[in-house]
Amino acid sequence: MTTTPADLYCVMGNPVAHSRSPAIHARFAELTGQHIRYERRLIPLDGFAEGVRAFAAEGGRGCNVTVPFKFEVPALASQCSERVHLAGAANTLVFQPDGSIHADNTDGLGLVADITRNAGVSLQGARVLLVGAGGAAAGVLGPLLHAGAQHITIANRTVAKAQALVASHSALASLQKAELKAFAPQVLEANFDVIINATASSLVGADVPVPACVLRPGSLAYDMMYGPAAQGFLDWAQRHGAVPRDGLGMLVEQAAEAFALWRGVRPPSAQVLHEMQQAA
Ligand code: ATR
Repeated sequence: MTTTPADLYCVMGNPVAHSRSPAIHARFAELTGQHIRYERRLIPLDGFAEGVRAFAAEGGRGCNVTVPFKFEVPALASQCSERVHLAGAANTLVFQPDGSIHADNTDGLGLVADITRNAGVSLQGARVLLVGAGGAAAGVLGPLLHAGAQHITIANRTVAKAQALVASHSALASLQKAELKAFAPQVLEANFDVIINATASSLVGADVPVPACVLRPGSLAYDMMYGPAAQGFLDWAQRHGAVPRDGLGMLVEQAAEAFALWRGVRPPSAQVLHEMQQAA
């Protein structure tokens, strides 16, 4: 029996009670034999920096960051990955032995892994429609470009926000020889291979914010939410012949990327996703 205390991790958010990260990381640890403890930490809305300091002082080795604190991370991290610079937000902190804090954003890596590995849809050369231009969209655009998507259209109710995302990612897009465009949802072209909903439209009971002509039979229609929050979008996609997929796989895969950063071990994420889908 081991007597060494478990390495401590957590997810910080407000609210955070709904987070499935503790269960996912506990299962990863079990399957990889890693000795960790992963908790939820409810952080006061004006207390993120203090919460991070207190957790590090308690011996925490790293944490995930969720709503509404992801945008506060770059200001307090010692180093940020390119993904964090591009997204302006981070979801994973690594507390280094020298006291510095490394920030990364594994959301987009998780989305790409779920689309390509779990759903088996290649993004190489793909035509992608990204619906939304808030934090969720910003977090995945860089990894979509790195994954080889060749045409990415960002559609958002507030077009200026889509244009700002195009501007902040234009250097990467030209490096990847990809075309990046911003549109209002009403004036979209058709025929996308992958449509990604990065808005909270279903959650607020609103209609899907793009016309059905963006879908074609067999295209992948992906909602970054899961559970009831994704249902409106998934039903709409299915009615129009597309292949619907919710964001549960993205959740598991972004957790797997964080786990690998912390522990240097890649957990069997596809197995854990399968278990969660069976349990749902
Ligand atoms: P998140 O961090 O989850 O992305 P956010 O930054 O508030 O949250 O962004 C929410 C996104 O959902 C935005 O793209 C928003 O559109 P606007 O930029 O025009 O506000 C989009 N959104 C939210 N509710 C919507 C609705 N009812 N119809 C269309 N788009 C909606």
